[in-house]
Amino acid sequence: MSPPFRVIPPTGRNEGAAGLPVDAPGSPPGETRISLRDLTKVFRLREGDFVAVDGFSLDIRDGEFLSIVGPSGCGKSTVLRILAGLERHTSGRVEIEVSDSGAPQLNMVFQEASALPWMTVADNVAYGLRRRRMPAGEVEEKVSYWLNAMALTRFRNAYPHQLSGGMKQRVSIARAFANDPDILLMDEPFAALDALTKILLQNELLALWETTRKTVVYVTHSLEEALTLSDRVVVMAARPGTVKSVLDIPFERPRDSVALKADPRYSALYAQIWSQLQEEVMKPQVRDAH
Ligand SMILES: Nc1ncnc2c1ncn2[C@@H]1O[C@H](COP(=O)(O)OP(=O)(O)O)[C@@H](O)[C@H]1O
Ligand SMILES: [Mg+2]
Repeated sequence: MSPPFRVIPPTGRNEGAAGLPVDAPGSPPGETRISLRDLTKVFRLREGDFVAVDGFSLDIRDGEFLSIVGPSGCGKSTVLRILAGLERHTSGRVEIEVSDSGAPQLNMVFQEASALPWMTVADNVAYGLRRRRMPAGEVEEKVSYWLNAMALTRFRNAYPHQLSGGMKQRVSIARAFANDPDILLMDEPFAALDALTKILLQNELLALWETTRKTVVYVTHSLEEALTLSDRVVVMAARPGTVKSVLDIPFERPRDSVALKADPRYSALYAQIWSQLQEEVMKPQVRDAH
């Protein structure tokens, strides 16, 4: 029988406090889907070791939308890449609950559109499904559904180079959602888009998440995005990257991204997160890096 948790082992080159019980800030009362304890990532550089992430502990609840914000270079992508299995942590504990739904466990959406250039839009969206040997009829059903949801139906036979940046990013999102993973990892997925497309896609994502309730870990440097989308926001401290605070975002759902901004709680939370971020951005070691 397979264990209920997949434990990703560290590379173990750094003698951190791996495996020791840690009081994770903001541990939620609900069911934990992902548990990170005292996570450390050390990059070995020619100039010496660089500690990118240090003592990062967090529990992520099943079905929650969790955002991570923090200054540039604080380790947000590194944490996400470790969760995705694209990077190995140096020490600490990473546990991801395995479901028996048969669905893929994780899917990542990157900042840069990651559509495969030699495949049509439809084939890109179908890619993961075909790899899972889903019957052709079912693949077509899902592909049509997600192309329609992402307003890409007219472009199903186009190739990525024929699309705008926003459309390419919608292909990546359609592919991730069509694949129906239990956990979606999104690394600044809308950062490279123009303001209008960004708002439209945020609204799409909001509506999608409100119907699917997947576990989403969403990295962004936009406080607005974090407040609009999330159940909780993690503010990261920089150099080395760790959890500075975890805030609950109490707005009722379904949310309307425009109406939300008129809520007095919105500006209070915005100010609170901003002042915390400002402390980090103003750290001398962070300012020096820019
Ligand atoms: N493969 C790597 N080799 C060396 N240093 C890295 C590597 N990846 C990231 N870093 C460094 O680790 C720190 C955190 O990077 P990253 O997680 O990308 O930050 P963020 O996503 O918060 O902007 C940065 O200082 C970055 O330069
Ligand atoms: Mg990043």
